[in-house]
Amino acid sequence: MARATVFLALCFAAAQSAGAVTFAVPSKAGTGGYAYAPLDPAPIGISFEFFAFPSYVANVTGTNQCLANWKDLTGVWPPIRIGGTTQDRAAYDATTPAYVVYSVAKAADAPATLTFGPKFMTLAGTYAGTVVVGLNRGKNNIENTIAAAKVAVAEIPNLLAIELGNEPEYWVKDKQPIASGTWNPATDAASQNDWNIRVGNAVGKMNIIQAGNWNDAPPAWGAAQLIATENTTVKQYVRHFAHHNYPGGSVQKLMTHPTTVKSIQVFDADIAAVRRTGREYVFGETNSVSGGGAAGVSPTFGAALWTMDYSLRAAFNNMSRTYFHHGTVGNCQYCFWGRRTMGAPYYGAHAAVALMAGASYLTALDTGKTNYAGYASFDASGTPLRVLLYNSDYFSGSGSRTSQSFTLTGLTPTATALRAKRLTAASASSRADQGNDISFGGQYFRNVTCAAGGTETYETAAVAGGQATFSLQATEALLVYLQ
Ligand SMILES: *[C@@H]1O[C@H](CO)[C@@H](O)[C@H](O)[C@H]1NC(C)=O
Ligand SMILES: *[C@@H]1O[C@H](CO)[C@@H](O)[C@H](O)[C@H]1NC(C)=O
Ligand SMILES: *[C@@H]1O[C@H](CO)[C@@H](O)[C@H](O)[C@H]1NC(C)=O
Ligand SMILES: *[C@@H]1O[C@H](CO)[C@@H](O)[C@H](O)[C@H]1NC(C)=O
Repeated sequence: MARATVFLALCFAAAQSAGAVTFAVPSKAGTGGYAYAPLDPAPIGISFEFFAFPSYVANVTGTNQCLANWKDLTGVWPPIRIGGTTQDRAAYDATTPAYVVYSVAKAADAPATLTFGPKFMTLAGTYAGTVVVGLNRGKNNIENTIAAAKVAVAEIPNLLAIELGNEPEYWVKDKQPIASGTWNPATDAASQNDWNIRVGNAVGKMNIIQAGNWNDAPPAWGAAQLIATENTTVKQYVRHFAHHNYPGGSVQKLMTHPTTVKSIQVFDADIAAVRRTGREYVFGETNSVSGGGAAGVSPTFGAALWTMDYSLRAAFNNMSRTYFHHGTVGNCQYCFWGRRTMGAPYYGAHAAVALMAGASYLTALDTGKTNYAGYASFDASGTPLRVLLYNSDYFSGSGSRTSQSFTLTGLTPTATALRAKRLTAASASSRADQGNDISFGGQYFRNVTCAAGGTETYETAAVAGGQATFSLQATEALLVYLQ
């Protein structure tokens, strides 16, 4: 009876909108004329700014729980990367008992210079998920970087890779010593190759380098041009390639699906070049707006929906992992969580993690040309697990909120009802850190602890003739469980 009521309500909502969006759900991965991406066990990770990493672990209560929430969904701790601009301002000091040593005029500042001790790597080694550590190339002191790399290898059991330098294309502007002469993609490539061999050789490990790590778009600063300069010796040391990305723009532009699809397509050729070498390509550092985020954009529910859509579209386009950057504690608009409050983007990332949890394949059901998106995940045997629907029409909070109906076809004929969790908020400008009204399946995440609060709630929709219809308001997403 309750089910029938929900079904009628959904039909009525559907009747209010123009054309229904229809997605055919493939019965098996590999079929239906869709492209499929193989999935990493944990495609969504966190990047911690180098100097702030110890603070996130030791001084931010929510860090462990925010990561554990995703481990609970996927069975795997999310991957982390430690690096950023301050990795190229840092020097290793074997004698300091501190994690990091620096001073800043204001707590909101990032240090212009810092040192770190062996305990920094010991702390990174306590993490149960994979760890990428970014070390200094800009200062051109390879002996110091090798000393740090040796401690990283010794202290971090789950060390996935080492980065040698962050965003090297900015080193002329930053007056980094290594870029004091000619500095362009070719000289950086020669430098990367030389350092990859020397550091890899010094730590006695093959497949240990995360190469690339630029922010300026490919092809100028991209993996394809770097690969073309690598001989077989260098190739042995490179585990995978990374690029950074901060699309920016207004909330509306950021969250609109075709904008996100286009911003990921910029990387297609570079990803393909890397995959031809049999290696992975990752967003090693990314988030909504560069420089810690934009106050009016990055902490909003619209940015949360962007986080969801962007990480899913990246995964669909064969980006193996996406590491969302977290900067200075207390001065970070795009952060998923902080010392005192949650950030709205965590909700979007959480919904994307929930779609991909335990999945081996992902497809996009839409062409990327309209505001209405759909993704489907599949288990290792190719059986569909879940579908995520996204209405990226912008709702500012004023005027009437439109809705769009989505019909899924090709559902198991014997299914009679499907469960779904809704990701919703009052508007695109809703903030978790300002009177939180954001929820996922009726639940929210508590400030400080990152523990889920509220009652987990599924809505249900009837399946008839292998079809089910769902209504999504503008600026909303829905995770449909097929099993
Ligand atoms: C944690 O915060 C305390 C108090 O502000 C500070 O003294 C300490 O250095 C911080 N520890 C880390 C690892 O940031
Ligand atoms: C491979 O390239 C590196 C520098 O990129 C160079 O030092 C090394 O001699 C080269 N090795 C071979 C076998 O050509
Ligand atoms: C992703 O890689 C798979 C092969 O593993 C390929 O079939 C698919 O077309 C690729 N996707 C895109 C969008 O290029
Ligand atoms: C978190 O703190 C902010 C700022 O005080 C507040 O507006 C919001 O309602 C709090 N969220 C929850 C879930 O309590």
